[in-house]
Amino acid sequence: MKNVIVGQSGGPTAVINSSLLGVFKTAKDRGADTVYGMVHGIKGLLDRNIVDLSSQIKNDLDMDLLKRTPSSFLGSCRYKLPEIEGNEKTYKEIFKILDELEIFAFFYIGGNDSMDTIKKLADYGAKINSPIRFMGVPKTIDNDLAITDHTPGYGSAAKYIASTTKEIIRDGLVYDYPVVSIIEVMGRNAGWLTAAAALAKGEDCEGVDLIYLPERVFDLDKFLAKVGELCKDKRSVVIAVSEGVKIADGRYVCELADHVDYVDAFGHKQLAGTARFLAAKVAEKYGVKTRAIELSSLQRCASHITSRIDVTEAFNAGGAAVKAAFEGMSGQVITLKRVSEDPYMCITEPADVHFIANVEKKVPDEWINKDGTYVNEALVHYIRPLIQAEIAPLWVDGLPRHLILKK
Ligand code: F6P
Repeated sequence: MKNVIVGQSGGPTAVINSSLLGVFKTAKDRGADTVYGMVHGIKGLLDRNIVDLSSQIKNDLDMDLLKRTPSSFLGSCRYKLPEIEGNEKTYKEIFKILDELEIFAFFYIGGNDSMDTIKKLADYGAKINSPIRFMGVPKTIDNDLAITDHTPGYGSAAKYIASTTKEIIRDGLVYDYPVVSIIEVMGRNAGWLTAAAALAKGEDCEGVDLIYLPERVFDLDKFLAKVGELCKDKRSVVIAVSEGVKIADGRYVCELADHVDYVDAFGHKQLAGTARFLAAKVAEKYGVKTRAIELSSLQRCASHITSRIDVTEAFNAGGAAVKAAFEGMSGQVITLKRVSEDPYMCITEPADVHFIANVEKKVPDEWINKDGTYVNEALVHYIRPLIQAEIAPLWVDGLPRHLILKK
């Protein structure tokens, strides 16, 4: 019996379901009997909330729809497994469920927090000599996973951010009086996504004026002075700022405005309100019209403008995880390795989950300008191939059609 199980965890991306399809299709092609899906990740598994994916993905059309469906098809969770030491009860329960389902390989599609789940399960499995194989499939719009060149999900979010930024720049020029637009981009403590705003610049677009990443300390006075200078000569000023920028004392800028109450199981505060706070400060100081544009979930669910490269790599990462598990590997995460720049090409390679779980990869210092207000060409060069080509939605009645989980 060769049953496998797959789950999705953490924040979604526009291509996370391509990885799900990669796992499902490859497992089936390699002779898996049943491919189970955990509904809401490991939390769903513990609640025995499980589906047989063959009852959901029945034909080629379903597969085409799945890879064009945003958010996590199976639902997600932000659930931190307890440390093994002292909490064996939870692990015994998980392995009992996996044994009942006759699971031979377990796949988890997620970011650095979710890889903590794979690490703990693989460690516990090794401890009890379980034959079950545990594999991580990388995903996060934040692009902050260690070892891998980049993460599936990042390219599509970057494409959306760069495209939307171009459109916002055009819109900002419409009036004959000044407008300061501040675009808030996700990414928590890493600036990869915010940096993608730099791609807006080209022969038909002057680009954004300032880019602030969380890798550098944010100075409110210096920021206001820069904006004041720009407003002297420009009608439209457009600024990209990460949701995760912090001031010198370590507080997030968004915390200066709102009291942030929500903290998830991994201890992450919900970050929102940075652009709103900064736009209010600019309006107060200079009396200009401002716009605070929070890209929020739009940047991670825009499946109508995904990068074909990203969709393909997400599928391949899922497939490579299955191949590795069927060949005997466990406790590994699939990474992408850039083997050629021109033409761009990445291959997949497994890496030990212990080097990836809970580690955040930041934008290297040499890719950020001296005063921390822009990124350089090397970073643009790194991102550019990841946003290439498109995959058209399947339009029905004027709207993109998605595949929905049937209960
Ligand atoms: O982890 C990916 C991410 O999209 C971050 O960029 C963002 O800070 C966070 O998720 C938002 O998560 P949630 O959906 O839990 O608010």
